[in-house]
Amino acid sequence: MGLPFILLNYKTYLQGTGQEAVKIAKACQAVSEESGIEIAVAPQLPDIYRVALEVDLPVFSQHLDGIGAGSFTGQIFGGSLKAAGASGTLINHSEKRLTLAEIEASLNAAKKFGFKTVICTNNVPTTAAAAILEPDYVAIEPPELIGTGIPVSKADPEIVRASVKAVSSLKPEVKVLCGAGISKGEDLKAALELGAKGVLLASGIIKAEDPKAALEDLISLV
Ligand code: G3P
Repeated sequence: MGLPFILLNYKTYLQGTGQEAVKIAKACQAVSEESGIEIAVAPQLPDIYRVALEVDLPVFSQHLDGIGAGSFTGQIFGGSLKAAGASGTLINHSEKRLTLAEIEASLNAAKKFGFKTVICTNNVPTTAAAAILEPDYVAIEPPELIGTGIPVSKADPEIVRASVKAVSSLKPEVKVLCGAGISKGEDLKAALELGAKGVLLASGIIKAEDPKAALEDLISLV
């Protein structure tokens, strides 16, 4: 099955804000170095630079706009993310939903800077559609399970299995992640057994008393 890819989304949780963002990233780096598992972090925009400065991990943005350099006030330019140390981005997270045209524009902008790209989706048809755009990953996350602690790999295994099947039949080079409610070792194991290549998660780690211990539990059955 190979080692999974783990992408930790900090969202706007206080526990992952400012200097706390660095502390969690350092915990991720320690677990990644101990296990050999690739762990990427997606802090909030203003924390990307401080995190990238302190850790040797892939640092992702939680969003990127489909714009170039110029007069785009308030938008997120891939060039500034790259300069801040980011090397990847989420696109279309359920908490930052985009139109199809915006998804494509963000993806093209991200690719211009050589970013790893993860398009977030909410069901099998949108997962298939996202795969056609050829991101590096699609991340299937049923919104109703996000933040619940009820893992998608247990609550709705079929959505993961069907997403993997759809993507592999359309764009086999695109890898599938799953997310929503993932926190324990058995959740990650179940996800990998369903054909996912990794997980996208947030609260199970960011809000944990001991994020490093929570990460170690997450990978304990890999
Ligand atoms: O981006 C991942 C996120 O939406 C999943 O949230 O808290 O259920 O791990 P959570």
